[in-house]
Amino acid sequence: MSEPFEPEILAFCCNYCSYAAADLAGAMRLSYPPNVKIIHLPCTGRVDTVHVLKAFESGVDGVYAAGCLEGNCHFEVGNLRARKRFEHLKSLLAQIGIHPDRVEMVNLSAAMATRFAEVAREFTERIRALGPSPIKTRKGSEVPRPDEAEKEAGKAGSPA
Ligand code: FES
Repeated sequence: MSEPFEPEILAFCCNYCSYAAADLAGAMRLSYPPNVKIIHLPCTGRVDTVHVLKAFESGVDGVYAAGCLEGNCHFEVGNLRARKRFEHLKSLLAQIGIHPDRVEMVNLSAAMATRFAEVAREFTERIRALGPSPIKTRKGSEVPRPDEAEKEAGKAGSPA
C-alpha cells in the first residue's frame, strides 16, 4: 500500500511583510502545514524564473511567492515584478506540461498572520489535489513526456 501524497512546497517570503506575517503566525500559535518551506528574501522582486524552475527540477510540487501588498514594497516595484514573473511562469509551465496552478503570487502585510496561514493551507490543498509534480514522478528527466503533460493539464480547474 502506498503512502498518501504529501506535497513539498516552497514559499518565497519577503523580509518586510510575509516573513513578518509568518513570524507573527508563529507567535500567535496559528498552525499551517509543515509541507511549506519558507525561503526568506529581502524582496520578492529577487525571485527569478530560474529559481522556480530549479525548484521544480529538484523535486518540489508547488511554489509560491508572498510579497508586500501592492504599493507597499520596500523596493518600490519588486512585488509588481514578481507578479509579472509568476504570470509568465504560469504560461511557461503550461507549455512544458506542468499545471500553472503549481505556482502563485500572493500579497500580504506584516499584520496578516491569519491570512498567511490560510494561504499555506489553501495552496497545500491545491497541490495535494494536483498530485506529485510530473517532473518528480519521472525520475532522471527534466521534462515530462507528452502523455504525462496531457494528464497534468487535465487535472484541477483552470488557473486562478
Ligand atoms: Fe516585500 Fe518587495 S519588500 S515584496
